[in-house]
Amino acid sequence: MSDSIEGLRRAPGAALSTDVVDDVLVVTIDRPGEPVNTLSPALVGEFEGVFLRVDQDLLIKAVVLISGKPDTFIAGADIEQFTTFRSAADAERVSRLGQDLLVRLERLRVPVVAAIHGACLGGGLEVALACRYRICTDHPKTTLAQPEVQLGLIPGMGGTQRLPRRVGLQAALDMILTGRNVRPRRALQTGLVDEVVHPAILREIAIDRARGLADGTRAPSRPGSRGPTSMLLEHNPLGRRVVFKKARASVLEKTHGNYPAPLAALEAVQAGYAGGFEHGQREESRLFGEMAMTDVSRQLVFIFFASNSLKKDPGVEAPAPEPRVVHKLGVLGAGFMGAGIASVAVQQGTLVRLKDTDTARIGKGLAGIRGVLQERLARKQITRHQLDDDMSLVGGSTDYSGFESADLVIEAVFEDLELKHRVLAEVEPVLDPLAIYASNTSTIPIARIADVAHRPERVLGMHFFSPVHRMPLLEVIVTPQTAREATVTAVAYGKRLGKTVIVVNDGPGFYTTRTLSAYMNEAGRLLDESAAIDAVDAALVEFGFPVGPITLLDEVGIDVGGKVGQVLADAFGERMAPSDAMRRVVVAGRTGRKGGKGFYLYDSTGKKGRVDEGVYELIAVPRREILKDEIVSRCVLAMVNEAARCLEEGILRSARDGDIGAVFGIGFPPFRGGPFRYIDGEGVGEIVDRLEDLNLRFAPRFAPAQLLVDMAAARRSFYPAER
Ligand code: NAI
Repeated sequence: MSDSIEGLRRAPGAALSTDVVDDVLVVTIDRPGEPVNTLSPALVGEFEGVFLRVDQDLLIKAVVLISGKPDTFIAGADIEQFTTFRSAADAERVSRLGQDLLVRLERLRVPVVAAIHGACLGGGLEVALACRYRICTDHPKTTLAQPEVQLGLIPGMGGTQRLPRRVGLQAALDMILTGRNVRPRRALQTGLVDEVVHPAILREIAIDRARGLADGTRAPSRPGSRGPTSMLLEHNPLGRRVVFKKARASVLEKTHGNYPAPLAALEAVQAGYAGGFEHGQREESRLFGEMAMTDVSRQLVFIFFASNSLKKDPGVEAPAPEPRVVHKLGVLGAGFMGAGIASVAVQQGTLVRLKDTDTARIGKGLAGIRGVLQERLARKQITRHQLDDDMSLVGGSTDYSGFESADLVIEAVFEDLELKHRVLAEVEPVLDPLAIYASNTSTIPIARIADVAHRPERVLGMHFFSPVHRMPLLEVIVTPQTAREATVTAVAYGKRLGKTVIVVNDGPGFYTTRTLSAYMNEAGRLLDESAAIDAVDAALVEFGFPVGPITLLDEVGIDVGGKVGQVLADAFGERMAPSDAMRRVVVAGRTGRKGGKGFYLYDSTGKKGRVDEGVYELIAVPRREILKDEIVSRCVLAMVNEAARCLEEGILRSARDGDIGAVFGIGFPPFRGGPFRYIDGEGVGEIVDRLEDLNLRFAPRFAPAQLLVDMAAARRSFYPAER
């Protein structure tokens, strides 16, 4: 196979290198100095060069496109590029260039085979779709997706046209409208790829298939939708109209009209069916241009860059000490959070030791861990063998045996300071002096927990969110005594667990719980003033939160919310005093979904029903309508004002951390960019005016943060103005 008629050729600094194997040109994409391959204007130029060569060199009978990176084919367009667009026309032009390139690829004199290993995303998938044949590896790193909507964009290189033609309308819409990852097996089922092979033989098979396509011994696969129902629906205009109508309704239901990109993508796909491929492409690039200029896209691109920059942030000012490697983790409390933390730790190969008060609770914890792994197995993200390996890493006991060799201990016992003191005092003498002790408390100041520690410099907070295996944020909390080396270790380990990590300074509720509480409290106050429970929830869901504050309280547990509220009220006084409604519901013993009785009704399976009218009797005020705008304004301003206080007090290191923390941790609408981006978007002066107006009615809790007042006076914003 390797009897090349010429050696590997690559121009200095170029991403593409070529290698001729017999009569097949193997083009390897490997952007020098970059961790992944992305598509950039320079790469487009290089492709042009390859096409020219293929046109001229008649000895070349076929082409294979393969990546030189260990786990990406092409991860998509270079997103940096999107920030340089100055107008819709600008972005549209770049999309047209990409489309033209792929039309040339598709019409090349010889067949092209895409050999895909690793991430094949966005523009990468569009490149693959323009090839005549696609092979991917059956490796966990291999995923195919059209994730543009996640950045507020749509595919811009023909993806809205080729994908439906390749996999059928419904499968294509599912990918384009959600950005969902497609794994090799599913890709084969839908016809997205033609073959799935072991990584070791990818190149060899690709060359073989390329040659087969060239000499006619292998026919290109037939595109189109699979299954009789999809055929019936998709292959006539009436059926397609049904599909489009349903897709649109589903997008609107999920996005509440807050995300324009999925609707634009639908329009582009529809245009292709109505007016043909070329018309579809023109519509696609026009709509791509339009989307690139939306505020939603700007915010989502910001979030992408901000979370990337956090990946590189060690968590302390430079020069950062080296983090310690965590080989073994001790977890105190095998409850809901303890088991959740253990489940993500074993998946990274960490040895885990669980400690709880009795063996039944340990058993429950182990079952919880297994449950998370089994979910991954069911989704084919891990094998049964991996599940067994992961489970073999965890053991439990009712004493501290095994803790002496732990590098890190995470405490997740009940939220009770006395108990937290007791377990710290018990375990500390057992631990290695360099071991780090982290509490997963969601509210109690870490310094208070560390009060009883002999080595307070080894104590910090690692605040995970529930459910741990799904929630992307970790809030690391440091006290003035925490050693820098302990901080960088907690941050590095959090990243290893796949989390986006922000580091905040200590204080009641830190950043996330504190800002969330300000918001939830205001929702309670609205109930005091007789707002309808479902009206409060609906208004904030429409604003963009994943669930409303009252539903969230039912989910978290009203008893838990009550305790958190009390800690914050003790710390911040009148501003955070719990609402009357909340107090009454707590006293009545309602705990929310887990107890089957909360603000809403729950059936025996825990499914949420309508509002429990009995709550209104408890609150004892007659219902009256409060306008949606008032609900949103009060809850959101309470939250963003508290976020500003956190920055002013130095709880937060930066506005960026505050934005990412709120979006990834407490459900702040991503398309609004986070509290600080939201303030900037509305205008700091405008926010101060609105807070002052509210404060006239509800003093002192809406008094604007001093930071906002100062910034408004100086006409400053948190981020530099864009575009
Ligand atoms: P949980 O009630 O599910 O688990 C607590 C576990 O601690 C129980 O298994 C209990 O037996 C165990 N425990 C009690 N005393 C112990 C001792 N002396 N030694 C060892 N284990 C002991 O509670 P959950 O929800 O897991 O919360 C744990 C901590 O995580 C709390 O501090 C909570 O505030 C915090 N947290 C909870 C979140 C949630 O959504 N549930 C989110 C973020 C933080």
